[in-house]
Amino acid sequence: MANMAKLLEVRGLRTSFATAAGLVRAVDGVSWDVHPGETVALVGESGCGKSVSALSVMRLIDPPAGRIEDGAILYKGQDLLSLSEQEMRQVRGREIGMVFQEPMTSLNPVVTIGRQLTEGLELHVKMDSAAARTRAIELLGMVGIPDGERRLSQYPHQFSGGMRQRMMIAMALACRPSLILADEPTTALDVTIQAQILELLRDLSRRFGVAMLIITHNLGVVARYADRVNVMYAGRIIERAAAAALYARPRHPYTLGLLRSVPRLDQPTRERLLPIEGQPPDLTRLPPGCAFAPRCAFRVARCDAEAPSLNEVDGAEHLAACWESSRLAGGARA
Ligand SMILES: Nc1ncnc2c1ncn2[C@@H]1O[C@H](COP(=O)(O)OP(=O)(O)OP(=O)(O)O)[C@@H](O)[C@H]1O
Ligand SMILES: [Mg+2]
Repeated sequence: MANMAKLLEVRGLRTSFATAAGLVRAVDGVSWDVHPGETVALVGESGCGKSVSALSVMRLIDPPAGRIEDGAILYKGQDLLSLSEQEMRQVRGREIGMVFQEPMTSLNPVVTIGRQLTEGLELHVKMDSAAARTRAIELLGMVGIPDGERRLSQYPHQFSGGMRQRMMIAMALACRPSLILADEPTTALDVTIQAQILELLRDLSRRFGVAMLIITHNLGVVARYADRVNVMYAGRIIERAAAAALYARPRHPYTLGLLRSVPRLDQPTRERLLPIEGQPPDLTRLPPGCAFAPRCAFRVARCDAEAPSLNEVDGAEHLAACWESSRLAGGARA
């Protein structure tokens, strides 16, 4: 396993936005990767840079305000940042699929379900219209939408919220991508539908060997569906571990706080939920030290002076960016 090729490797990514209030450092020198077939999560509070990370991979950061300033995004070994816009369109259509939180903003309300599905197949994999239609019906079946033949002539508003999200997944899968970026794919849905959609994503990922990046603020989702987890805070990754290790032995106080602030599916009434006090920092004025220090119960003088880098805390698979992570080593969660 040691040398398993990476499907996607983000290295030192820096993405910022010029705003009236100053330069927003949305993603500030971040590295993470995804292996073939693996499900990786990107977790953190609102505004920490999760969506900007995914949009950067897809090169969907709008200039001139938004800019990828530095880094590399290696997909199957090739840097996406060096591709032409036309080559990038092929990557978006065929190689990497995307599922967003709110399907209605990505589905065209005046185009039939069938047309939206067949368009990409005709454009990117050069299917003729009959083959694309057959594949579209097959795709609807794969995502659990029966009666595909009839559904093809319907419009998005004739679908329920859960069905629209299934439709988005069908579109993302249409050209057999190697990777799907799912940005909060279920937050707009009610709880039972959320679980169904996540289970669908997991089944499809296993059946077709598609790797997934799941973006969520919900650690409950992460525990059940991800292999590895990257925890983000203020544009940086502050902890990375296998999902089970992150749950059992979080080594960054922020992760600990996140775990205490979400209900656990297995023990819903185990403890009182403790929200993390305070607010994330202003991304135009990041402090010189650790960005989490002002909210941190483990803070020491060094935390304000010097930002800790992401270091091994328990072998090469568990990293944390915290000067005091050894104080959390003994299972601070209990
Ligand atoms: N187009 C933009 N112009 C200016 N600032 C932006 C723009 N897009 C994102 N940002 C800022 O970048 C930061 C990261 O945003 P991002 O959307 O990645 O957060 P997120 O982690 O996805 O949050 P959420 O959980 O709310 O979706 C935020 O401070 C946001 O305000
Ligand atoms: Mg987001």
